Amino acid sequence: MIEKLKVYGNQKVNGTVNISGAKNAALPILAAGLLSENGLQLSNVPPLADVSTMLSLLERLGVSYTPTRDAIHAMSVCLKTDSVDNFIAPYEIVKKMRASILVLGPLLTRFGQCAVSMPGGCTIGVRPIDFHIKGMEALGARVELKDGYVHAVARKGLKGTVFKFPVISVTGTENLMMAATLADGTTVLQNVAKEPEVVDLANCLNKMGAKISGAGTDVITITGVASLHSVKHSIISDRIEAGSYAIAAGITSGCVNLIGENLRYMLSAFIEKMSQIGLIFSDIPDGISVKCVGKLEPIDIETAEFPGYPTDLQAQSMSLLCLADGVSNIRENIWENRFQHVAELSRMGANISYSASHAIVTGIPKFTSAPVMATDLRASFGLVLAALAAAGDSMIDRAYHLDRGYCCIEEKFSKCGVLVERIR
Ligand code: EPU
Repeated sequence: MIEKLKVYGNQKVNGTVNISGAKNAALPILAAGLLSENGLQLSNVPPLADVSTMLSLLERLGVSYTPTRDAIHAMSVCLKTDSVDNFIAPYEIVKKMRASILVLGPLLTRFGQCAVSMPGGCTIGVRPIDFHIKGMEALGARVELKDGYVHAVARKGLKGTVFKFPVISVTGTENLMMAATLADGTTVLQNVAKEPEVVDLANCLNKMGAKISGAGTDVITITGVASLHSVKHSIISDRIEAGSYAIAAGITSGCVNLIGENLRYMLSAFIEKMSQIGLIFSDIPDGISVKCVGKLEPIDIETAEFPGYPTDLQAQSMSLLCLADGVSNIRENIWENRFQHVAELSRMGANISYSASHAIVTGIPKFTSAPVMATDLRASFGLVLAALAAAGDSMIDRAYHLDRGYCCIEEKFSKCGVLVERIR
C-alpha cells in the first residue's frame, strides 16, 4: 500500500484532543469475548486497524459482531460468541498483528484445543512467545510446535497452577490470566505485568464472573469458575495516545487539552519526566491540559514496565529531546531494536548517536524537513512530531503504520488547528 502523510512544518498544536480507548486494552478484551457463550458488549473501542484485525480473527473463529460508530474516535462492538466452531488462528491474520496470540488462552480454556500461528519477529524485536507456551503447559496443556503453529490441547480442561514469569510480559500475563479463569482450581501468576490495560482486562473478566484478585500488583490470583457471562464494559483511555499528543504540544510550544479518564495516574512517570523537560501539566474537568512556553531542558530517560517510563512513548520522547538545550540520554530496556527512528530523525537534522540500547541525543535548534520512512507504529508518530516542528514540509512514507494505533489522526490534529494530509 502506498500511503504517505504530508506534514506541514512550523505548526503550533493548540486545541482539544478526545483520547480514544486504549488499543492495548481493547485487543485482549475483545479476545476475552471468546470466554463467554453469550457474548460481550464493549464501548469506547478505538476504530483502529489492529482492532479490525482482531475482529477479523474472531470472525474467522465463528464470532459475529455488530460495530456502531458512537463518535469519530470511538465505537461500540457487540460480540456474539455462541457459535464459535473454528479453533485455528491462521498465519495470514496473525502475521498482520502479533496480539493475535491473545486468542490462545481463551480458546484453549473454553474449548480444550486450538492452533495459533506463531507470530514471528517484528521490527522492534524478536518477540518470542515462550512464556505464553510455558504458562499454558504449566496449566496442564499439551503444546506442540508444528508447521509454524502452536498446537495446544487440554481435553479435560486446564488445572490451576503456580507460574512465575521469568521476565514481565504484558500479553503473557493477559493470556494466562484469561486461560486460568475457566481452569479447575486456583492459579497464582507471579512477576506479572501491572499495566493499566492488564487491570482493565481483569476488571472486565471479573464483571463477567471471573474470580481474579491482585491485578495491578506483582501477583495475580485466579480461582477458576465454570463459565463466564456477557457484560457491558467500556475500554479505558489510551495513555500512549494521550502522551503522544502531550508531546505534540511540547514540541510545537502549543497547548492541548487531553480529554480522557485517569490520565494523570496512568502517565505519572511520563508526566514527571516531561515536567523536568519544561512541559506544564494541569488538571481540567475531563482530563489534563499540557502546554509549553519556555525552552526545553535535556534529561535522561530509561524505559521500564509500568509504573516506569513506557517504551511505547520512547520514540516520541526522543523527537522532543532532539530540540532540548543540551545532551539527553535514552535507555531502551524493553525492546532490543527500538531505535529505528534514529536514522530517520537524523535525516531531519537530529544529532543522535546510539548503541544497542542507549541513545545520546544532542539538542539542535530546529529540525529540517525531509522525506522519511515510518518503521513501526510509535516511531511513525515520533516522525510526525518532528515534522510538525520542522522548518519546512515533510512527507512520511508508510503512514499505514500510524493507523494501527492512532485513530483519525488528521481529524484530531485538525481540531488543534494543525494540517496533516494523507496522500494516497
Ligand atoms: N518476552 C519474552 N517471551 C515471551 C514474552 C515476552 O522473552 O513469551 C520478552 C519480550 O521479548 C520483551 C519483554 O519480554 O523483551 C516484554 O514483552 P511483552 O510480552 O511485555 O510485550 P507484548 O505483550 O508483546 C505489549 C504491548 C506493546 C508494548 C509492550 C511493552 C500489546 C498488544 N502490546 O507487547 O505495545 O510495547 O507490551 O509494554 O499490549 C505498541 O502498542 O506499540 C506496542 C508495541
